[in-house]
Amino acid sequence: MSNAPESVPAATIHLRAAGCSLLVLADDDRLPRIRHWGADLGEQSSAGAAGIDIVSDPHSHLSGELPASEVSVVTDPTTGWFGRAGLKGSRLGRSWSTSFRTTKVELNGRPVAGFTEGGPGTLRIAAVDDEAALTLHLVIELLDSGLVRLRATLTNDGADFDLDELSLNVPVPSQATEILDFAGRWGMERQAQRHDFTVGTHLRESRRGRTGLDAATVVHAMEPATTFSAGEAWGVHVAWSGNHRHFAEHDSTGVRLLGGGELLLPGELQLATGESYTTPWLYASYGVGLDAVAHRFHNYLRDRPQHVSTDRLVTLNVWEAVYFDHDPERLIALADRAAEVGIERFVLDDGWFGARRNSGAGLGDWTVSADVWPDGLHPLVNAVRSHGMQFGLWFEPEMVNLDSDLARAHPDWIMAARSVLPREQRSQHVLNLSIPECFTAVHDQLVAMIAEYEIDYLKWDHNRDHLEAGLQSAGGAPTEHAQTLAVYQLLDDLKERFPALEIESCAAGGGRIDLGILERTDRVWVSDCIDPLERQRLMRWTGQLLPPELMGSHIGSPRSHTTHRTHDLSFRAATALFGHYGVEWDLGAATEDDLRELADWIAIYKKHRGLINRGNVLRGPDPADNLWLHGVVAGDRSEALYGVAAMSWGAASTPPRARLRGLDAVRRYQVAPIVVGDADRGFTPPRWWDDRTAVVSGAALESVGVQLPNLHPEHSILIHVIAVD
Ligand code: DGJ
Repeated sequence: MSNAPESVPAATIHLRAAGCSLLVLADDDRLPRIRHWGADLGEQSSAGAAGIDIVSDPHSHLSGELPASEVSVVTDPTTGWFGRAGLKGSRLGRSWSTSFRTTKVELNGRPVAGFTEGGPGTLRIAAVDDEAALTLHLVIELLDSGLVRLRATLTNDGADFDLDELSLNVPVPSQATEILDFAGRWGMERQAQRHDFTVGTHLRESRRGRTGLDAATVVHAMEPATTFSAGEAWGVHVAWSGNHRHFAEHDSTGVRLLGGGELLLPGELQLATGESYTTPWLYASYGVGLDAVAHRFHNYLRDRPQHVSTDRLVTLNVWEAVYFDHDPERLIALADRAAEVGIERFVLDDGWFGARRNSGAGLGDWTVSADVWPDGLHPLVNAVRSHGMQFGLWFEPEMVNLDSDLARAHPDWIMAARSVLPREQRSQHVLNLSIPECFTAVHDQLVAMIAEYEIDYLKWDHNRDHLEAGLQSAGGAPTEHAQTLAVYQLLDDLKERFPALEIESCAAGGGRIDLGILERTDRVWVSDCIDPLERQRLMRWTGQLLPPELMGSHIGSPRSHTTHRTHDLSFRAATALFGHYGVEWDLGAATEDDLRELADWIAIYKKHRGLINRGNVLRGPDPADNLWLHGVVAGDRSEALYGVAAMSWGAASTPPRARLRGLDAVRRYQVAPIVVGDADRGFTPPRWWDDRTAVVSGAALESVGVQLPNLHPEHSILIHVIAVD
């Protein structure tokens, strides 16, 4: 007889929050199942919950396969599930078939049995497999925002256990027949891809050692023809900044699952007796319309104590202004100009340290280059501060050039899985931060710089993918898991030591955007592409996970450095407005007119940033295929700001109306354009443009809308709406 804990009586737990219900069944002989995740079911009596079980119970299967409602959150083949196994591992071919028995079910710290109902809450479930000598601790939470999150910890109670995978999943109903997720490349992250949810597994794996420019970001299953405002949609996100996978699995019995977890390399995780492994959080968001799915992520992020304030400081980043050409005089002049137009934070990008005159040298040597900055950064920092601006500095802490003092002194700190180094990318390699001495060396250099210059803001870059991520001293053993944890540790240490420090997550643009990194950073760099036409799409889809205040959004040069398209300042500035506003443009080369107009745009951002940085994001309905609408509406619906962008030239000669969603149907609003700079945009304005006498109900603005002018392609307008009662 084993003296393992007794099994528990069956428990059905119904949690409700923000229009979402989560119904979980936990009983003794298997892992918990989610019976419903989606629309709020309303209050259920015990009989009501039993009733849901009865009406949703599948009739007996001819094939004897596992019914959909019996698939557990960690899929378990011993129950008759023939799809992907949630837990994969073995002891050299033994203990690979696991079967868990539930030993503890607690809601908010209290044991539960029978039927229990509540609001947002935390469910903790323990389960053991005595024969395999493994214990699982599961956490399933419904947060205030209606976001669900799940995490599992596996503890090895026996001899060494090699863990290959531990993934979690949530079920989606059969009406979820389409998949939407994202793909991408440098300068073109988060390209939406949409297709049928056919039988098979839609598997999105990242082996890049970072979230990835091609990351799936949120994998949705949804009703056909789901839009931003209609159609039921369910989405999951793995909050992990290293190797990871998302999947949407549809088996031939009709089961549909969304899930994911960390992707472990071969032999990467061996659990010795008593050791544990914890998965990243799997976040799950449900909504009617894609905006509602996004809002749960946004509301969750905004509820966190560490979330940024609404007064996001307008930033100048000098990368596209000077690249590696660091000339202190020119940079000080740039800081002066920046202050004149109202910029509040100056960020010095790559090129200030070691031998870093181009991308071929210096990474790893985080001390100021005496060649370029003979007096250190102090003259620049003093100039920046004399204008009342904050000072920010670029680092790429996980990286090293072979041509650096650090690589020369410690070649063994470079990641490698074989006797030769992996291929270079951008002339650089990856430092193994899981080596304590390496971690300390990087940590101490960062601390010294931050302390000496009282740095307010750190842009943390990660420009290459990992290849052959191994630990040299361990014969090349894989080290991605340890590396991701070490990066988190480094960020956490810096945040603890410098609580006011803001950190930006950048990875060759938007290559590290996930909720793991965002637990310890304050914004992301969405993309290296700041062409506003591309940015309209980039912001639209990055916004599926992140609210505007976390998306770095800059006004670039008239001619985009990435696409070579040329755009008016009005389109560049109005596009950037719906994010954390900034400028990345050589203001030394800007005309006086440009600078005046830029100052006006910055003033507009400052006036509306409270709304932009806390409002509910709305996308669409697009007035036409070529006309994209997006906006933010204040939580109390007293005010809203909408942008309409002409992505190309329209087919119709008469422009359509823009229907303005999200307002209070019975309140009355005044509608006005926001016009900056040259009022003559080459179109005949509609009547409401100059006539402030019209006061219209929210219902009318949503169902009738406002007449648009005939917009030129690659131009946009802004519409401000404010309640008058
Ligand atoms: C990639 C980033 O996305 C850019 O903004 C810039 O910081 C460069 N790296 C610098 O190397």
